[in-house]
Amino acid sequence: MSIFKEHINRMSAYKPPLDGRDPKQHLLLDFNERTLPVSAAVEEALVAYIRDGRLQMYPAYGDIAEQIARYARVEADQVMITNGSDQGIDLVIRASSREGDEAIIPGPSFAMYLQCAKVENLVIHQPQYTREKGYPLQEVLGLINEKTRLITVANPNNPSGTILPREEIVTLAKAAPEAVILVDECYFEYCSVTVADLVAQYPNIVITRTFSKTWGIPSLRLGYIISARENILPLLNVRGPYDINQLAIVAIRAALANLDGVESYVDEVMQQSKPRLETYLDSKGIEYWPSGGNFLWVFFADPVSTEARLQAAGILVRPKLDGEGRLGLRITLGTLEQTEHLLAVLEGAVGV
Ligand SMILES: Cc1ncc(COP(=O)(O)O)c(C=O)c1O
Repeated sequence: MSIFKEHINRMSAYKPPLDGRDPKQHLLLDFNERTLPVSAAVEEALVAYIRDGRLQMYPAYGDIAEQIARYARVEADQVMITNGSDQGIDLVIRASSREGDEAIIPGPSFAMYLQCAKVENLVIHQPQYTREKGYPLQEVLGLINEKTRLITVANPNNPSGTILPREEIVTLAKAAPEAVILVDECYFEYCSVTVADLVAQYPNIVITRTFSKTWGIPSLRLGYIISARENILPLLNVRGPYDINQLAIVAIRAALANLDGVESYVDEVMQQSKPRLETYLDSKGIEYWPSGGNFLWVFFADPVSTEARLQAAGILVRPKLDGEGRLGLRITLGTLEQTEHLLAVLEGAVGV
């Protein structure tokens, strides 16, 4: 006998392999994080806040939603901050779907969508991404019916990196006007593809974004939702008043005032590191999926031993299965110097 709902007891926890990761010992290419620490301006703002003797107060967010809205080029009442985009995903699924409703969650993709949909006991459909077509648009359209309440689009998708063009997100929004089209723009800064300008026109689109992947503060947990004003108001009814911690707000205020550090990092990753790794893989005939994010999903001939060799050299990457059960290694891109180091080790690891 359990005091909890039966379907919750049957679930398993979402437990990413976080143990033993150490940026001083490892090159962390396994979680798609920024591979450099935050800028001096952000660090100084955090230290100054702690020294100011205010940690005993509850957080107060002031005009942060307005500032984020300005950065995201949307209206302030179209933005709501969340405790990482994980909380945004959870809030949207909780607020929109009831037990027995249907969710279309193409896979493989980010694990939180399935986790939250299972908590709500939804009927889940999982058409598969492919390297050739990316998002399985035709299958998703074919699965839509009157019970569909949720369709997820990770854009770009994790782990595949594939991007669904804006027009096709609009196709989904029109095909399922009663469903939430959850567009996860976690890696927005790396690809600049967004539907943020369409949220007033398509009120069933809800976007989640984060300061985890580009801005260097996944540890502090700050994300935000962009959607039509009439969606933000009910979502605020679900979120708690103190769910986001004050240090995350302090860090992002400083980062938004010093965008250079973020922009130059994104440029280095996308204009230098990514082409460098792609050229290397092409020259060796090693397959990878086309990616709009700060990572590549690479299919080595022997992924298990390649991962072991990388790990022995202190480089952590993330094994992920595709829809046909083939194992790929998802490799985060960092600075050019870090990518050169990766290539030097790979050169030994792939043995070609
Ligand atoms: C597609 C996608 N969405 C969301 C997240 C989680 O972001 P956050 O740290 O804001 O919860 C990740 C992290 O890996 C991700 O890959």
